[in-house]
Amino acid sequence: MSEHLTKHHPDSPNGCDDVSKNESGNTPFASILDARLSRRNLLKGSFGLAAGSFMSINLSGCLTNSDGTSPDNSFKLGFTAVAKGTEDLLRVPAGYTTTVLYRLGDPLNTTTPAFVNDGTDSAASYQFRAGDHHDGMAYFGLSSSGLSKDLSNTSRGLLCMNHENITRIFLHTAAEVGAGFPSGARVVSQIDKEVNAHGVSVIEVVKGASFSVNKLSGFNRRYTAASEMTISGPAAGDDLMVTPYSNAGTATRGTLNNCANGVTPWGTYLTCEENWAGYFKRQTSASLATAKETAAQNRYIGSGASNGSYGWANPVGGDTSGVGLYDRWDISQSGADSTADYRNAANTMGWVVEIDPFAPGDLPRKRTAMGRFGHEGAMPAKAVAGRPIVYYMGDDAQNEYIFKYVSNANWDPADANGGLTAGNKYLDDGKLYVATLNADGSGTWTELTITNPLIAAAAYGFADQADVLINCRIAADAVGATPMDRPEWADVNPVNGDIYVTLTNNSSRGTTGLSTGGKSKGLDAANPRYYDDGEGRLGNPNGHIVRFRETGSNPAATTFNWDVYLFGAENDQFGNPSINISSLTNDNDFSSPDGLWFSQAVPGLMWIQTDDGAYTDVTNCMMLAALPGNYGDGGAVNVTNLAVPSNAGADQTVTTYAGKAATPATLRRFLVGPKGCEITGITETPDGKAIFVNIQHPGENTSAANIGIPANFESHWPDGGTARPRSTTVVITKNDGGLIGS
Ligand code: FEO
Ligand code: CA
Ligand code: CA
Repeated sequence: MSEHLTKHHPDSPNGCDDVSKNESGNTPFASILDARLSRRNLLKGSFGLAAGSFMSINLSGCLTNSDGTSPDNSFKLGFTAVAKGTEDLLRVPAGYTTTVLYRLGDPLNTTTPAFVNDGTDSAASYQFRAGDHHDGMAYFGLSSSGLSKDLSNTSRGLLCMNHENITRIFLHTAAEVGAGFPSGARVVSQIDKEVNAHGVSVIEVVKGASFSVNKLSGFNRRYTAASEMTISGPAAGDDLMVTPYSNAGTATRGTLNNCANGVTPWGTYLTCEENWAGYFKRQTSASLATAKETAAQNRYIGSGASNGSYGWANPVGGDTSGVGLYDRWDISQSGADSTADYRNAANTMGWVVEIDPFAPGDLPRKRTAMGRFGHEGAMPAKAVAGRPIVYYMGDDAQNEYIFKYVSNANWDPADANGGLTAGNKYLDDGKLYVATLNADGSGTWTELTITNPLIAAAAYGFADQADVLINCRIAADAVGATPMDRPEWADVNPVNGDIYVTLTNNSSRGTTGLSTGGKSKGLDAANPRYYDDGEGRLGNPNGHIVRFRETGSNPAATTFNWDVYLFGAENDQFGNPSINISSLTNDNDFSSPDGLWFSQAVPGLMWIQTDDGAYTDVTNCMMLAALPGNYGDGGAVNVTNLAVPSNAGADQTVTTYAGKAATPATLRRFLVGPKGCEITGITETPDGKAIFVNIQHPGENTSAANIGIPANFESHWPDGGTARPRSTTVVITKNDGGLIGS
């Protein structure tokens, strides 16, 4: 079996950045209480709602929780659940229609040739075509005239969309694939094509019979891994940002591995850089000039030397561009200082990047106050006049952390049309926090500031606040943040303010001593499962979704309570009743939750998307609709894990807090994708009557050896026949014109 639970085709490496680089030794206080509870009892191989005795040892607010707020119950899931399946097609419920909107390679103007899709489409043309691996996206209403912002418009809008990565074999010709892609000697035009297939699309979509792309729109554009960007906020101009491209440390080229997304109350788009680290060529960390540089490379990129995932630093014949177009992917220390080599280039990636969809001339801004890590998404709490703007963010790698950003400025609705100027006000000046989840169901947000004695005294030797933000994983280690099972998307329930964060899976949870490819952490209350999924996958193969309630329901609070809203599982749970804790059934069982997003049009309706490699023998990746209730609507649960390696091979019972079990009324499978895909990225028209969903990398398990045998491609979706598969945005509508999910 693969040691990575999320599949990444060897010809499309994602940097394999889901592997833990967290050597902090952070093990929450959880384990102390867990051990006490474990000894109390509990049948092997079983779990149960803990009895009152647990309350008596003061498991704080978790069980007292509910403030009486209940989600708006007026909306009910009304569709028939879609069955699991492995066919090469997109399934939605009866009564719904899907329309293909925007596929890899589709031109976004009228002068770019139609996509041939055999690898001959030129590298340069990708600056005007859809990129690959569609991911997070957001719809912004445009006025009926098509000239200005009207966020309420349901029939004309701008769709901003991430292009996270590439399926390389389908970008190049069969002959090129056959010749291989040696990372030490890449064909220049191939590098250019791969760089241009990354980034972001902004496209205007217009509703006729269905939605289509308006290729005449002046708003249509691509940002790629080569586009000029501004570095903004506290780390702008820092020594660690200086490169030959910008000796001032205020600019860089490219946005990279754009995964999930966010939006702002002032109508701009946030694109978030996730697995950027693997792209860079580097020397061994031990051979770097200073111990600090060694520590930083170890914590973010890895200790070994590499040509980088795609070898972009190694064009045949060397970099003859004169402007470092390829050298910028090499962070080795080859010159005298950071003005002479690109040792700092990786410091310019790993950020939340703000784009104003309505201002094509404005350069995107990397918002460094929000911290540098493997950003999944950045979703805001509800903006309230006179209160700070708050964002929740996951760092997606094994045993990484959950972060929160709180602006120093209070929200002024007069800034609602402020564009990137408003962004400067709210996103360049604020506090970055990291989460600690305690065993008793409480939690703490700790500000990552150079004035914190634990950070100031960290062995790494932080120079200043810019250093803290650039290396915030190391600062989070120092304050005892809780390592989580790969934090992916986060979003806020508009009904009650509860925060949901997907934890997609973790093959290194509880696996200390096993060769599982990660730096294992023991079990704790918030990451309580270790099991074998029946096919040899160990740790937490199916993932879970954690839920926070801020103290006083105040997004800027520094304490919170948490529970686990849902545990992913195969419903037959391999004969171990401690796995399917949320009572999933055939109609709603899932594995590896990743995308998670609340409809703004239908209060309380949440969508869950999967990026799975564990349940894929039974079903392709999927999307489920949920009506998730409230924090604390379940109770304490004792999870018995069998033969846990990090517990000296003995069974270990962990007390956690589970949300109310799922029912057909609260969780239902809405969509199953084609073969080899991941479902990721969702947005809607403001009336909730059309949703846009991204189908990423169908057919990605196709081997390079089969590139010349189209019939053998894993998928031909969406074009069918023997076509190469394409990442695609689809629009889903209900045939009776009703709300999606009803
Ligand atoms: Fe790009 Fe963590 O998914
Ligand atoms: Ca994701
Ligand atoms: Ca993913």
